[in-house]
Amino acid sequence: MSDPLWYKDAIIYQLHVKAFLDSNASGVGDFRGLTEKLDYIRELGVTALWLLPMYPSPFKDDGYDISGYYDIHKDYGTLKDFEDFLNEAHRRGLRVITELVINHTSDQHPWFQDARRDPASPYRDFYVWSDTDKKYAGARVLFGDTEKSNWAWDPEAKLYYWHRFFSHQPDLNYDNPKVRQEVLNVMKFWLDMGVDGLRVDAVPYLVEREGTTCENLPETHEVLRDIRRSVDAAYPDRMLLAEANQWPTDVRPYFGNGDEFHMAFHFPLMPRMFMAIRKEEREPIAEIIRQTPPIPPSCQWGLFLRNHDELTLATVTDDERDYMYREYASDPRMRLNIGIRRRLAPLMDRDRRKIELLNSLLFTMPGTPIVYYGDELGMGDNIYLGDRNGVRTPMQWTGDRNAGFSRADTAMLYCPINVDPVYGYQGLNAEAQQRVPNSLLNWTKRLITVRRQYKTFGRGSLELINPANRAVLAFVRKYEGETLLLVHNLAGSAQPVELDLRRFIGAEVIELLGRTRFPRVAEHPYQLSLSPYGFFWFKLDMPQRVRGRS
Ligand code: BGC
Repeated sequence: MSDPLWYKDAIIYQLHVKAFLDSNASGVGDFRGLTEKLDYIRELGVTALWLLPMYPSPFKDDGYDISGYYDIHKDYGTLKDFEDFLNEAHRRGLRVITELVINHTSDQHPWFQDARRDPASPYRDFYVWSDTDKKYAGARVLFGDTEKSNWAWDPEAKLYYWHRFFSHQPDLNYDNPKVRQEVLNVMKFWLDMGVDGLRVDAVPYLVEREGTTCENLPETHEVLRDIRRSVDAAYPDRMLLAEANQWPTDVRPYFGNGDEFHMAFHFPLMPRMFMAIRKEEREPIAEIIRQTPPIPPSCQWGLFLRNHDELTLATVTDDERDYMYREYASDPRMRLNIGIRRRLAPLMDRDRRKIELLNSLLFTMPGTPIVYYGDELGMGDNIYLGDRNGVRTPMQWTGDRNAGFSRADTAMLYCPINVDPVYGYQGLNAEAQQRVPNSLLNWTKRLITVRRQYKTFGRGSLELINPANRAVLAFVRKYEGETLLLVHNLAGSAQPVELDLRRFIGAEVIELLGRTRFPRVAEHPYQLSLSPYGFFWFKLDMPQRVRGRS
């Protein structure tokens, strides 16, 4: 059997089936198209894919509003197409992570339809009903730009129902054991098919209790431990990834004692990487690292720069939020809920040096990096599209019609392709970047190749070094006798730095991207000059004599 800790060494590529490749000229990407592009994904060097929801859905929340858990949305193909895709991915050594959206269903789900119509329905108690909208007043409204309350009136049931997200997404009632059983059934269905991991959506909100924020409740953790027990009992090499957009101390319990989630996203680190590069100082990153509690050895952080949602600012202070909006979202159209709906390249003003620096942080911090489709090309966004659709535009494959994404009439595409002068597909596409040796795509491949050679990146400890120059973020990662030193210049000007490496005296210093030998570590502080937004990945090789003692 494969290593059950595979997710610790993984590099994940997040994509939307609808946005990847349309094989049947319908205007929407599908599983056959995705299967055709598996070699592209493998050649990128990533080891796993995470797919956004692919189930039947009215698509009012891009598939996070599920109306059937045991099928594939017809626009994406059939279950058979999905199984073929899964087999082809596995044949290439790629794992597949899918979505388990269990906090809520679509209001179109037959459970809800039945429940609202008939008080005696066995599904009535699958949802959270009330004759007043005053209960659970301590719960915040998450999608505040659209929803004013977590309760919505259902004229058919003549009751209010509870929803933490859009009002068309009624929350499931986890106090009902039948709901728990249904969720386990859904999970088993996909795991039996061979899915390697599940990203469990919106986990903090499963259970409601009066007088609380209805987030991170002990009862919610109990449900999650139950889910984990079922996975461990039958599927020992699968992975559960928590989406809990919370501060580190509140996320920590989702790992439990290694008996809840294998992985959880590190939400608070993400905006701080953007903050640090803008402020040209390491403190935002250093501070959140200091605040991050240790996690059980079998657990892992999921790291990301951008994803399909807005760049969430839920886990920053008010001042920090103002700063981020000021610096990264001057146009109000760029803002959504508590966040910024933009892609990586536009956030970095398409400055290649800054994009590389952020990627270097993504690939060297402790955790498993997740790359959002199209960011390996530096794709742009479209802030004129509604909701978060501007960061979900079709993948730009070639300079041909519809960017090589689809043979459909352009007007049929599920959303417009980017045609602007800076990010338009005519100049910015995978084919063109494959031909240019130093394109962002090829650079990303090289970075991934190097990262994959050292287990320390995925598994090692982290220790911050605090040089006097505050524009420099330096840290040491260690794992089983391997030592890496990572140094980043967050400033847009060249910076000198002196590092106290005395405990590594005598070590050989090898720069990993060029395999260049740097001066050995000696008694005096180790001096480096960093170019604007420059960084070094070093391996420290201790001479035999010293190694014996360390
Ligand atoms: C997903 C969002 C979605 C929400 C409601 C989230 O956490 O990432 O895209 O809108 O769950 O399902």
